[in-house]
Amino acid sequence: MKAVIPAAGFGTRFLPATKAQPKEMLPVYDKPTIQYVIEEAVASGIDDIIIVTGRNKRSIEDHFDKSFELEQTLQSAGKDDRLRQVRAITDLADICYVRQKEQKGLGDAIYCAKKHINDQPFAVMLGDSITKGPVPCTKQLIDVFDKYESSAISLERVPKEKVERYGIIKGVEVEKDIYKIDKLVEKPLMHQAPSNLAIMGRYVLTPDIFDKIDETEPGVGGEIQLTDALSKLDAIYGNTFEGKTYDIGNRLEWLKTSIEFAMDDPESKDNLIQYMKEIVDGE
Ligand code: UTP
Repeated sequence: MKAVIPAAGFGTRFLPATKAQPKEMLPVYDKPTIQYVIEEAVASGIDDIIIVTGRNKRSIEDHFDKSFELEQTLQSAGKDDRLRQVRAITDLADICYVRQKEQKGLGDAIYCAKKHINDQPFAVMLGDSITKGPVPCTKQLIDVFDKYESSAISLERVPKEKVERYGIIKGVEVEKDIYKIDKLVEKPLMHQAPSNLAIMGRYVLTPDIFDKIDETEPGVGGEIQLTDALSKLDAIYGNTFEGKTYDIGNRLEWLKTSIEFAMDDPESKDNLIQYMKEIVDGE
């Protein structure tokens, strides 16, 4: 299976940080966000990856490319650990890039990868969201896809007052944590939302989604919405992901994610707790 990672958006919620650099390259603790996404793909058994890029996205390509000068410098300095880290990034996966010429929405970004998918099921992983769980989120979806032989998307319950930020589904629970979806709505008003089950940025899709995107008119925000195209599929299942999804396209969530990931590192944890206590006590 291949994975498509859309990373061509303007990232307007995170300006000015994203004026000249993609939000997918913003570091979360010690790695760019998109590296976590690719590591999740690899951990889910996918190493054939298509990244959809746009303007100002060169740094993504550079990050996963070989850097001879850097490797030589690290080697001469005897920094073997760092050298191993840098080489591992290049060897992570086979990555190719397609360009979305105009930022016409997530559905349009996925459509740009059509020629590379060869009529096979494929995963979509948003380049600005990271997941953490006992089994990688995309792997959980592949299992649902295999069992129900239908497209599958990851879901998480969100507080009612936040439904307006997400695609929201209506569905029937067919087994624990798995829903057969009847309806999907992009960014509904709170009182019109059919539930509080939100689409969280990971999908495993049948290739007929491309025809459905082609038939989709611009929706919320004048963009070609993937959610609207998903509504046209014959069958689609949702999986409430056992784990947590982090949306780093929003600056406060990005900051919280960085702190949470730093807390997972025993080298930083105690210092960070001490520092946060000092800040809170000083308030
Ligand atoms: P978002 O809607 O979160 O990204 O899309 P955005 O449009 O960059 O964000 P804001 O609202 O302006 O801050 C989710 C993912 O889809 C990609 C983004 O790069 C992000 O990884 N995307 C979005 C595209 O590749 N192309 C688009 O036209 C829109």
